[in-house]
Amino acid sequence: PIVVLDFGSQYTQIIARKLRESGVYSEIVPFNENIEDIKARTPKGIILSGGPASVYGKDAYHPDEEIFNLGLPILGICYGMQLISQHFGGSVIPADHHEYGKAQLKFEKESDIFKDTTDGQIVWMSHGDRVEKIPEGFEKIATSENSPYAAIADMNRLVYAFQFHPEVYHSKEGAKLLKNFAKHICGCDSTWNMGSFAKEQIKKIQDKVGDKKVLCGVSGGVDSSVVATLLAEAIGDQLIPVFVDHGLLRANEREQVEAMFSTRGIDLITVDATDVFLKKLEGVTDPETKRKVIGETFIEVFDQEAKKHDGIEFLAQGTLYTDVIESVSVKGPSKTIKSHHNVGGLPDWMTFELIEPLREIFKDEVRILGLELGLPKDMIGRHPFPGPGLAIRIMGDVNKPDLEILRKADVIMLDVLRSSGYYDKTWQAFTVLLNVKSVGVMGDNRTYDNTVCVRIVEATDGMTATFAHIPHDILETISRRIINEVDGINRVVYDISSKPPATIEWE
Ligand code: XMP
Repeated sequence: PIVVLDFGSQYTQIIARKLRESGVYSEIVPFNENIEDIKARTPKGIILSGGPASVYGKDAYHPDEEIFNLGLPILGICYGMQLISQHFGGSVIPADHHEYGKAQLKFEKESDIFKDTTDGQIVWMSHGDRVEKIPEGFEKIATSENSPYAAIADMNRLVYAFQFHPEVYHSKEGAKLLKNFAKHICGCDSTWNMGSFAKEQIKKIQDKVGDKKVLCGVSGGVDSSVVATLLAEAIGDQLIPVFVDHGLLRANEREQVEAMFSTRGIDLITVDATDVFLKKLEGVTDPETKRKVIGETFIEVFDQEAKKHDGIEFLAQGTLYTDVIESVSVKGPSKTIKSHHNVGGLPDWMTFELIEPLREIFKDEVRILGLELGLPKDMIGRHPFPGPGLAIRIMGDVNKPDLEILRKADVIMLDVLRSSGYYDKTWQAFTVLLNVKSVGVMGDNRTYDNTVCVRIVEATDGMTATFAHIPHDILETISRRIINEVDGINRVVYDISSKPPATIEWE
């Protein structure tokens, strides 16, 4: 693959995406990944992403300098360019003014990295610092009006650097530039697709697992279903697919999930752990504590189930790239936003090794992978559902009566949304039980009941989201039906916040 080192730019993931879309496999790793782990990925080239820091700042992020000695082609983007200049002996200065926006790229020198792209193409600049003096051995290969060194290269050492961001949409031919780097400089072929990803992962799983058994938590969501299907293809009945019913599922969810797998010849082992979870959640109101309790209980339940089978050495999970960066951001634990229940260390007493075949990819890529593996379309189109389930959609204490209310409201909302055609147009739609009481009037009677919030968002990977502009008549139907059909609810509100600064889930 092409390995992308992440220095914290908001665009890093797009670099990997653009490469994959053009048929080159690429993986993102934190900037400080150790050199042995980088080598173990057998990269054909390395890209250094942009980042918010200044290379001279005291908090500057630096990679393991050994990456410059691997003899691999390197492309630095923005901050990555400044790192390259600094490493090879050039100089970087704060720019007189922050350059932000479109610029025209003027070629100064012919290079394969520009192959089949246009002299004068529009690129997107966003930087404070800039390179003042380029290192020895480098030459400028392109300029722009404000950047005398818009692109530089040492063609002998195959080190390239762009001041601009080729990965963003506004860099019109940027995807081509990235592909050129991969194809012509690194010698990657561009035949990779989700089908090859499936084959690679199946092979990797087989090599890793041998004749051992793998425990796989199945939730019915797209991610874990794709993981379980990959594993079933790879190792057949060495797969122990465990479905934990934590009592925090939506209406009929358990039956639907069991049926979907059994038609594919995969018999889930369902563990009904409702009472265990609800007991542990009793009186827990803090969102992070809820997540921690649920995460730990999951692992405990898995472990107990695992003990019933011999030879299990692995635990498979549907962790996505998004989960990884939001839980273990490059900026360190202080920036953790939410503890996703399916990421993070296993307790010491558990000896399983993790298998996470989706760790490098995004939700929409998982969907393509699922279709490749023959999963049904309606399964693939399912909205994401968080591991902690309805517990993080009930504000405050989680209990059976509240779960029942929320399930009823949820079914109604989904029913209206599906029949209006909006289900497939949105990323996620759900209801939240606010446990806020307000006064209402039903018939001649005063009511003092609970509030349901409807949350419907549009997103492409869940990292950012905007509230969906659902027509008011649809919202009206949702509201009317919930209030009429669900006892204990007399008010429905619609969440009009986007992410950031809100998050998609309420907890
Ligand atoms: P937030 O609320 O952080 O959610 O904006 C982003 C996306 O992640 C889902 N989510 C989770 N998924 N385990 C999961 O598998 C979790 O613990 C979890 N928490 C949130 C959320 O539904 C949204 O799609």
